[in-house]
Amino acid sequence: MKKVLLGVLILLLLVVIGGISMVGWQVVLGPKARAVTNRTFERTEARRARGEYLVENVATCFHCHSEPDPADPSGGIKAGMKGAGWELPIPELGHVVAPNITQDVETGIGGWTDDEIARAIQEGVNKSGAALFPVMPYLNFRDLDDEDLASIVVYLRTIPAVKHQLARTQLIFPLSLLVKTMPVPLASHDPKPAPVRATAVDRGEYLVKKLADCSGCHSPADDQGQPLPGMAFSGGGEFPDIFNRHEGKPFHSLNITTDPSGIAHYDEALFVQTIRTGLAGGRALNPVMPYSYYRRMTDDDLKDVFAFLQAQPKVQHRVSNTDPATPCPLCKKTHGLGELNKAK
Ligand code: HEC
Ligand code: HEC
Repeated sequence: MKKVLLGVLILLLLVVIGGISMVGWQVVLGPKARAVTNRTFERTEARRARGEYLVENVATCFHCHSEPDPADPSGGIKAGMKGAGWELPIPELGHVVAPNITQDVETGIGGWTDDEIARAIQEGVNKSGAALFPVMPYLNFRDLDDEDLASIVVYLRTIPAVKHQLARTQLIFPLSLLVKTMPVPLASHDPKPAPVRATAVDRGEYLVKKLADCSGCHSPADDQGQPLPGMAFSGGGEFPDIFNRHEGKPFHSLNITTDPSGIAHYDEALFVQTIRTGLAGGRALNPVMPYSYYRRMTDDDLKDVFAFLQAQPKVQHRVSNTDPATPCPLCKKTHGLGELNKAK
């Protein structure tokens, strides 16, 4: 009897070890993280200004890291709470808390070194080396240009400290384990030459993929959060109605590819106008779409974003927030015009 039990136990252990080595030993050992260095970023006015531009208008850090004010028509944040943290409305994944990133030493990141902040932004671990869930777009920020990273850190140092204690993120099982396999340290922190982005599409790609994360909301994903193949930028991402614009019902991101079911009708001028006004065809866009941040981007940057979107493959996927929600065989969500889509 004892032997049988031992046999079963050993078998179980092997299964567990097998499972662990499939997902990675990080689930037991903790995330991969490099030791912090004593690097600091010189505070220059040029960096502060560039950092302000990127944080406030392009990377929309405070769209997640601050509590929104549902009474503000353009989706602003609660007064005096900039950067003080917010629990994101995604209870399906557990409690996902975008922490206080103000300079408060006790409840924010005022006591972190520059390199600790840089490591969190690009490599996905916090001061104590714990893994961050990649809703925080560190997998995009990983490829930021050196100067842009330095500028973001220099600007974060200048925002007012707000004392505001929040609980830490608690993910549902097995995400709570899998998250530990996600951070990947950067191999080198040697200065890189500033890249030359010669074309509008290249510059737009950097803005869209490394800073603004349009695809994080506009590309449909499965229940595990994995992007559906061949559907990039075609909409269908689901959001709860936190601003009370949709009768409490979920609504969806729209198709921004150049297919007729997307934004084939946009030219550059209409695109810039939509982002600046938050009006699409006269209809006020839901402020979950961060136009109130992007509207302050320069004309040149917005035109580059448009050039990049124009260069992406067309994807046929009808999505609407004004028609009754029906099941969509393509993205498996239930959204306006869903019934008109055909499974591939
Ligand atoms: C889409 C939402 C989102 C955006 C945009 C975003 N973050 Fe985060 N951030 C988060 C979440 C959520 C966490 C916490 C993840 C966790 O606990 O696993 C986080 C964690 C962090 C942390 C670690 C803080 C701590 O106490 O552990 C820092 C620093 C940070 N973000 C800075 C930034 C900066 C700077 C930007 C903009 C350049 C930014 N974030 C943009 C959602 C976001
Ligand atoms: C936090 C999620 C989120 C992010 C990030 C985001 N969007 Fe959106 N976007 C939405 C949602 C949701 C809608 C639909 C809003 C509505 O219908 O009221 C939308 C609508 C739009 C529309 C209007 C489409 C139409 O049919 O007229 C455009 C254009 C657009 N987004 C472009 C962008 C671009 C470009 C970026 C990146 C620079 C971006 N979005 C980033 C969520 C997001």
